[in-house]
Amino acid sequence: MVVWTVANQKGGVGKTTSTISLAGLLAEEGYRVLLVDTDPHASLSYYFGIESEDLDLSVYDLFLQVSTKEQIMQGLCPTHYENIDILPATMGLATLDRSLGNKGGMGLVLKKAIQKIADEYDYVLIDCPPILGVLMVNALAACERIIVPVQTEFLALKGLDRMMKTLEIMQGEQSEVFKYTIVPTMFDKRTKASLMTYRRLQELYGDAVWPGVIPIDTNFRNASVEQKVPSDYAAASRGIVAYSNLLKHLVYLKSVSK
Ligand SMILES: Nc1ncnc2c1ncn2[C@@H]1O[C@H](COP(=O)(O)OP(=O)(O)OP(=O)(O)O)[C@@H](O)[C@H]1O
Ligand SMILES: [Mg+2]
Repeated sequence: MVVWTVANQKGGVGKTTSTISLAGLLAEEGYRVLLVDTDPHASLSYYFGIESEDLDLSVYDLFLQVSTKEQIMQGLCPTHYENIDILPATMGLATLDRSLGNKGGMGLVLKKAIQKIADEYDYVLIDCPPILGVLMVNALAACERIIVPVQTEFLALKGLDRMMKTLEIMQGEQSEVFKYTIVPTMFDKRTKASLMTYRRLQELYGDAVWPGVIPIDTNFRNASVEQKVPSDYAAASRGIVAYSNLLKHLVYLKSVSK
């Protein structure tokens, strides 16, 4: 099982869109995919029409009690895609940092839960909220690679800088080196700002930047209205072709353990 976390402390950069797009492509290749929604806004859960307030199990419950494999499996929600299940978010997640207070040892809750169901899925993709808190810490600790979408506009660089500092601080507590891939998103080739930001990203972060870009593509928004994964909605669109190139790159990195 492969676990990837999609994270950036900046909001609206394409985290949820990247999670769904990659999940759709992996499911089409026949892989069993689990999505984990750690955002209290539950965008990922809503995307698949899951109204999360009356669920048997959500990410929140994992923090309240230790669940067995059977309990977790029973609580996962199917989506209308055969190969995609989801561990949904609930509003309660927003209170998690406060309710846990100083309670220690909560950084690996998600990792341990995912390990219990490792045999059931090929890929687990975790979508993060745009806030640093116990949920993001858990998501970062649970994965083997972090995918960091960055909007190709100048202000987004500042947000990325903050995210990189977070990784540095967290790295101090981890034994394994964080692997991450920066993904330029919402690239508009007609604007100077997009091009300049893209160049600056490469100057600053070199090889950690995926050499491609995800272009601006209205199909993503339209796909969400129809609750379809983008590759099901518009398989040949520029945006989806870009995400499938990104997926190839991520799989390549995995194969060479980079
Ligand atoms: N490449 C793209 N082209 C056009 N629109 C896009 C693209 N990627 C994402 N969007 C749209 O931009 C909006 C924000 O994207 P998304 O929800 O994926 O960001 P996010 O980082 O998950 O946001 P949040 O931090 O609020 O969770 C959505 O309406 C989405 O449909
Ligand atoms: Mg989101």
